[in-house]
Amino acid sequence: MTAPKLALTEGDLSSITADAVVVGTLQGPDGLALAPGAEAVDAAFDGTLVETLRTLGASGKDGELVKVPTFGKLATPVVLAAGLGKEAGEEQVRRASGVAARALGGKKKAVTTLASVHLGAAVEGTLLGAYGFTEYKSDKGDGPVAKVDLHAPVSKEARATVKASTAIAESVIIARDFINTPPNDLYPGSFADRAAKLATDAGLDVEVLDEKQLRKKGYGGILGVGGGSARQPRLVRIAYKGAKATKKVALIGKGITFDTGGISIKPAAGMDEMSSDMSGAAAIVATMVLAAKLKYPLEIIATVPMAENMPSGDAYRPGDVLTMYGGKTVEVLNTDAEGRLILADAIVRAGEDNPDYLIETSTLTGAQVVSLGKRTAGVMGSDSFRDRVAALGRAVGESAWAMPLPEELRADLDSRLADLANVTGHRWGGMLAAGIFLREFIADGVEWAHIDVAGPAYHSGGAYGYTAKGGTGVPVRTIAAVLADIAANG
Ligand code: BES
Ligand code: MN
Ligand code: ZN
Repeated sequence: MTAPKLALTEGDLSSITADAVVVGTLQGPDGLALAPGAEAVDAAFDGTLVETLRTLGASGKDGELVKVPTFGKLATPVVLAAGLGKEAGEEQVRRASGVAARALGGKKKAVTTLASVHLGAAVEGTLLGAYGFTEYKSDKGDGPVAKVDLHAPVSKEARATVKASTAIAESVIIARDFINTPPNDLYPGSFADRAAKLATDAGLDVEVLDEKQLRKKGYGGILGVGGGSARQPRLVRIAYKGAKATKKVALIGKGITFDTGGISIKPAAGMDEMSSDMSGAAAIVATMVLAAKLKYPLEIIATVPMAENMPSGDAYRPGDVLTMYGGKTVEVLNTDAEGRLILADAIVRAGEDNPDYLIETSTLTGAQVVSLGKRTAGVMGSDSFRDRVAALGRAVGESAWAMPLPEELRADLDSRLADLANVTGHRWGGMLAAGIFLREFIADGVEWAHIDVAGPAYHSGGAYGYTAKGGTGVPVRTIAAVLADIAANG
């Protein structure tokens, strides 16, 4: 789908011709108020815009959208008043811009004054709110608004902000498109091909290991999990090296293109959503494209395992012992705890590059959703880096919360036969137990974070803010913020 074309403009608002002008509204202490940037629009209404909106029942609350005709007061026929809630923060602007962008579908041109409140957030919210996935629809509908003028002071910095935020939104969209592509078309081989093409086109170095190469090198986790599918697994490696790279960062994402649970099969209800079990991989591939565009002064190496978890005569069994890449053995007690097995291989491989930081993300556990809900990611890892990642996620509007790795859970992963079992055999702290499992494979001295996005990666309900139903692209923006932070502060 084509994205709206954005342009910075600081011209006189009353003379800009467009189908609509977007203003922000706030829930002030005394009722609805206008957000900054709306002054010229209000002036065209002779200062009656607030009264008009109040008369229409508007309150400025988050998610609200009220349309007011201008009857020739402006060169735009309609004012779209988008509610920010109690404050005009970045995430509020992102969401209100998303709501406005969805309401503008099919229009030729709009101008948004939210750009003057938070330029980058308005860009991201507009592009993400305009997103729709119509690849498999015969009728593609109206499509998004074709052009949006960003009404804000023009400067070199402003142009750079638009460029960076556009690149970030484009990467979120790359991730969303991968996630929304159905598993009959997106399987390990085709996912690897598509990822490799994107990365190569972005000027990145790519290596794809197929099942034969995986066997030769001893990737027992990926091969074990992927063995049940007619579509054999892959391991994709993508490398980026910025000029004056100061730190090396390893990125890893879970790429289960469909998770049936395998022989430990899942119930039928809702199983279709397990087509999103490659959201971590999608986020990492998308982040590599972003790195190539934004040219972080870092070395970044992505290691992305891709497999389909299917039951079949060739499938791995509960009771099997797998020898992982690097030699550790794992007793499989539940074939539905497959993500940690492919990730263990990838984590050990990534460790061979001697990274300073390792960030891994996955739709790893239902327990994440039980404990933190559908919209908040659980972040585990080494203490300070974990806290840093969670805080940066929140700062960019991707809700994230630091979670512990309680030591007593480690013994529950002891195996009768092997070095480790893949599940604890009880339900308690399932998200944390998965984190403890992954920790066994992290190389010594590496600062690491595991971001469990089982809930946030996929939105099952109706659209809100800049989030449509389907793949969300979480945690692309979190990881982008972490990379920028490492580039700036080490
Ligand atoms: N892919 C699932 C986790 C998941 C659940 C993601 C819900 C998104 C939404 C994962 O592979 C899985 O099945 N985990 C099991 C682990 C259990 C067997 C220890 C789970 O959470 O039930
Ligand atoms: Mn599973
Ligand atoms: Zn899974």
